[in-house]
Amino acid sequence: MSLAQVVDFASEHLPLTLALTVLASLASWAVYNAFFSPLADVPGPLSARLGLGSWMSNRALSYDMGWKLAEQHEKHGAAVRVSRNMVSLVDPAVIGEIYRYGGKFEKTSFYSYFRADKPSLMSTLGNHDHALMRRAESPAYTMTLLVDLEEHVDSCLDDLVSYFDKAIVTGKGKGTVDMGEMMQLLAMDVIGELAFGGTFGLCKAGKDTQGFLPMLEAFVDVCCLCGTQPWAGLPLIAFCNWKVGAQGPQALAAKSSKAVKDRLEQIKKAYETGDEPRRDMLSKLVMAKNADGSPYSVRQIEVAASSILGAGSDTTAITMRALLYFIVRDPAVYAKVMRDIEDAFDSGLLSLPIKYSDGTKLSYFQSCLKETLRLHPAVPWTLPRIVPKEGAVLAGRYYAPGTQVAMSPFVFHRRTEAFGPDAAVFRPERWLEATEEEKKVMERNLITFGSGSRVCIGKNISLMEITKVLPTLLWKYRFSFTPRNQPNSPHKLPGRAVDGTYDDKEPWHVKSQWFAVQADYWVDVEERDDA
Ligand code: HEM
Repeated sequence: MSLAQVVDFASEHLPLTLALTVLASLASWAVYNAFFSPLADVPGPLSARLGLGSWMSNRALSYDMGWKLAEQHEKHGAAVRVSRNMVSLVDPAVIGEIYRYGGKFEKTSFYSYFRADKPSLMSTLGNHDHALMRRAESPAYTMTLLVDLEEHVDSCLDDLVSYFDKAIVTGKGKGTVDMGEMMQLLAMDVIGELAFGGTFGLCKAGKDTQGFLPMLEAFVDVCCLCGTQPWAGLPLIAFCNWKVGAQGPQALAAKSSKAVKDRLEQIKKAYETGDEPRRDMLSKLVMAKNADGSPYSVRQIEVAASSILGAGSDTTAITMRALLYFIVRDPAVYAKVMRDIEDAFDSGLLSLPIKYSDGTKLSYFQSCLKETLRLHPAVPWTLPRIVPKEGAVLAGRYYAPGTQVAMSPFVFHRRTEAFGPDAAVFRPERWLEATEEEKKVMERNLITFGSGSRVCIGKNISLMEITKVLPTLLWKYRFSFTPRNQPNSPHKLPGRAVDGTYDDKEPWHVKSQWFAVQADYWVDVEERDDA
């Protein structure tokens, strides 16, 4: 066929020609990505190497990120190519390189989807802008304020305890509760108290009366999907928002904005009448100032509070569920934790309501918490950063500026090079037996809260909450997993373990996406005689 005939054919069959051109371009692009791009030598699944984002998007849609990525690292070692321009790493030596304070690696555009209109602390990409925002908002996260926040946690915990007590009465001595949901409701109520001026009243109601849970879930789904297909940009966001509609990110943003506005009204009135507003995170955010000295606008306060809702409720709930799971699952661990708590009550170290400073002295309990944070990190997704303009040598290979590099807490924590030959085993004793030097290394390798300049700013708040809540519940109640294979079983989903295996003996169904959410987690609760 001559060139003239090709041109004639193309103009006669324009739509077909356009479709073939697009397909051919995509195919050439994919071949280039897989075999000729600067990352062509980094091993990984073919769908990632082709560079169309499908491997990561698949993880977002299939909720299996931690497990599939762990498989790839098992197969290929320290570096795995997970998309056109991103490499996942599991070498302990690179944590400091990528995430350190004052470092030059910045967050990738993936995070820009974790926001409504204005960037929050979590979704600000540039290090300079982030440092200014972090300085402005850090008074809401200080250790001094933490002590004042404890009473707000206590009041929410009282509501949860009343809910359990009622369930026990209704069940004539044994209540069956949806621990998955109740832990989330508690974490939400606490965030309500800390960042929105008052509890959302969810534990009291025993259900999600505000419809928050589906909104948060849809929010994260949309972020993960759009963040792994950035080329699709605004149309994809618009499509997702249309698809999730009244339960989506925009509805969540509107709901939290309204809650903040209502509270700001109350704070204003308190100042007008000469009353001191109560000390919580919101009262600190109200006082926040921009770098030029101007006060935070109402919109900035709303964004900060909403991001606390997004970052602080799922994460804390996931960790509380997992900690209870690891304790109840193993009778020896359960017995040791109870001895720890009982001794502390007997010796007068602990009393109700448990103070955070006292709870930190429960050495076995605290090592169980550390081990939970290690084996069931709330965020198993990769935490991606951009290689700065100087380029970087990571795990023995040079990466060009602009390459995205990332570490997944879930995958990394289970590697023998990070936590030794028994890295995959829940063994709280490792934290008690370690020398000071070994402990320092383990702490450095524990990246559940991220690391360095973008490390979780709410870490102490969640540790405080968990250290008050779990010992209180363990002291007051005896827990066992509600069996799955009973005729009247409330379970709806197949049992799925933390490592992704399906097993009907599992009391829950774990998903692994941005968050490692556990669903369908039912627990039998009875009163303890000596509480
Ligand atoms: C067990 C509980 C928690 C876990 C596992 C957790 C995990 C994380 C992780 C992994 C990051 C870093 C993300 C990255 O580098 O890509 C992060 C950041 C953040 N977290 Fe948490 N988080 C928890 C609780 C909280 C709580 C309770 C709050 C708020 C009260 C909070 C607020 C934030 C904020 C605002 C950021 C962004 C910090 C910055 O970039 O400066 N988190 N969290």
